[in-house]
This record gives sequence, C-alpha cells and structure tokens, in this order.
Amino acid sequence: MTSPASGAGSAGLDVFARRLPKVEMHCHLPGAIPVETYLDISRANGIPVRSTAGEDPYAFTSFEDFLELYGMICAVLRTRADFERAVYAALERQTRTGNVRYAELFFSPTDHPSVPYATQVDGLVDGIRAAEHDLGIVARLIPSINRTLPAAAAVEMVEEVVAYRRDEVLGIGMDNNEALGPPARFVEAYRMAGRHGLKRTAHAGERGSAEEVAVTIDELGVDRIDHGYGILNDPELVKRAVDRGLPFTGCWTVSLIQMGRPVLGRMIEAGLRVSINSDDPAVIPTDLGREFHGVASTENLDRQALVQCVMNGVEATWLDDSDRRALRGRFESEIHALQAELPGE
Ligand code: ADE
Ligand code: ZN
Repeated sequence: MTSPASGAGSAGLDVFARRLPKVEMHCHLPGAIPVETYLDISRANGIPVRSTAGEDPYAFTSFEDFLELYGMICAVLRTRADFERAVYAALERQTRTGNVRYAELFFSPTDHPSVPYATQVDGLVDGIRAAEHDLGIVARLIPSINRTLPAAAAVEMVEEVVAYRRDEVLGIGMDNNEALGPPARFVEAYRMAGRHGLKRTAHAGERGSAEEVAVTIDELGVDRIDHGYGILNDPELVKRAVDRGLPFTGCWTVSLIQMGRPVLGRMIEAGLRVSINSDDPAVIPTDLGREFHGVASTENLDRQALVQCVMNGVEATWLDDSDRRALRGRFESEIHALQAELPGE
C-alpha cells in the first residue's frame, strides 16, 4: 500500500492529489464556513466576532481555544436562511478547492440552543439541494453530539433527530473535547440511534488514547471511527479493527497538530481502512486537495496509495448499496482518465 514516493513534494503529485475526485466524511459544517460568509452572517445578526479589525477572525492558539472559537461560529447561525447560506458556501469551497463530489457533514444541534432542531435541518437541506443543483456536489448530514454535555442532552438530541426524520440525515456523530466526555457516558444515546436505524460514528483517540477507541468500538457500536490515531498504541485493537474492516476518517493537518508526528502512514501500513478528510477546513485553514498532498509528501505515499484512500472513503460512505456502487464506478473511470492525462512519475 505504501511505497517510497519518488515524486513526493513535486508539482506533479500536488496536481494529482488536487484533481482526484473525493468524498469527505469528516468535516464539521461550522469549521467549513468560509470566513467572509461567517463575517457577513455575524454582521447581519448583530453578533460580534472575537477578533478586532485587521485580525484573523479564525485565529486560534490551542485545541481548547479552537473549540471556544467553534462555539462562537455556531452562535452566529440563527435562521433557516443562515444555515442554508452557510452550508452552500461550505460546499462551494469544498467543491472548488478539493474536488469533493460527495460529503457527509457534521453539524452540532446543541451548539445552537436558541434554534429549533427542525429549523437547523431544514436550512441545511435547502442549502444542500441548492448546492447539488448548482455545483453537482451531493451532501448528507450527521448531527453530532457535543460530548462535553451530560448524557441526557445527547439522548435528547437523538430523540429530536428521530422525531424529525429527513432523508438527508444518515446517522449521528460525537465531537468536542474527549478529555471532558468519555465515550461510555453516551451508550444510551448510541443504542437509541441504532434502534432507530441511524448509522453511528464518533471522534475517538484524537490525542492518542487507545482506550477511548476501544470503548467507542466495543460499547457504542460505531460503523466508523473519526481520527482514531490512539489505536496505534494497542496492536491487538489494531488487529481487531483490521479484521473487521472498520473505517477510520483521518485528517492530516489535525493529526499532526494533535499527535505531534505523522501517524496516517502508519495506520495505512497497519492495514487500517483510512480515508483522508479535512475536519475544519476553513478555520484551520486547509482543503481536501492540500490534505491529500500533505499525507503523500510527509508519509511517503505514492499515487496508488492516494487512490486507495479515496476508494476507502467511497466504501465507508453511508450511501445505500446502489448509490455507493454508482459512485464507485464513476470514481474508477474518472481516476483512470486522470492517470492517463497525468502520466505518473
Ligand atoms: N469539533 C470540530 N473539530 C473537532 C475536532 N477536531 N475534534 C473534536 N471536536 C471537533
Ligand atoms: Zn472532527
């Protein structure tokens, strides 16, 4: 799967990485809103941003500081039209910068306490439909539990998701600070989601804990793991995840920030089904083309390994079987044409 990348860092690999068609399954809507859109909406709603004139409104100094900023970005979205505009702008950026064709986007219902769940989802569906019409990108939604809240708030969120079903909402996720929200707290919410046919994923092991990954797999019944880097500290757990073919949504920039060293290459080498994603692309800032090229150049992945990461993503989507088969076929022929157009180094 990995081999020494003779062209790592070259313009050729950069172009190939950028032009590959991609899916995105680990991207938080609030962290994907282009900064100009964020500023416009905050001005329209009279909600101040934390930076002063001339400073980058998306600057942050640590993970905890990032999470505070994330909450402030959430706070500016107040109306159905705000959600529509935010998701449309995020999807436009994803399409243009990363050639993303299909996205499953996290949003954070409990981080908008003054906006009813139905208003949030309706606005997001409006924006998704407009983006599909104008740009060709298909997107689906994953309401995500804020794990720093009590278990009852997570259960309540799942009850709302179940009570207001929309076809675009495929399952639930869980994010925010792992240190403040152990996975075992959320067993009831995850069981309820499973009983109602919702898919399940969760952030785990983002800062290196193998135990959080183990509990997330064993007790929450997840279909995917977001990040999951800590699994490398438990070879037995790696073996179990490989045997099960459990998908991992890796994010190159965030993995380097959180782990302080490259880890995605090692996860791929261990046989884990890793896809490459962008997490909070507008805030970081990054894009999916950059994430793919970053992995290739720092982790010695060649073109074939990048293609494998794309296809790992396709297989890990929560599309139904026939839609997934159609996406797979489309990607295979596009990638074949791209390889012919850009002969390998
Ligand atoms: N929310 C947005 N980005 C996140 C991340 N990388 N980890 C946890 N929660 C998040
Ligand atoms: Zn994330």
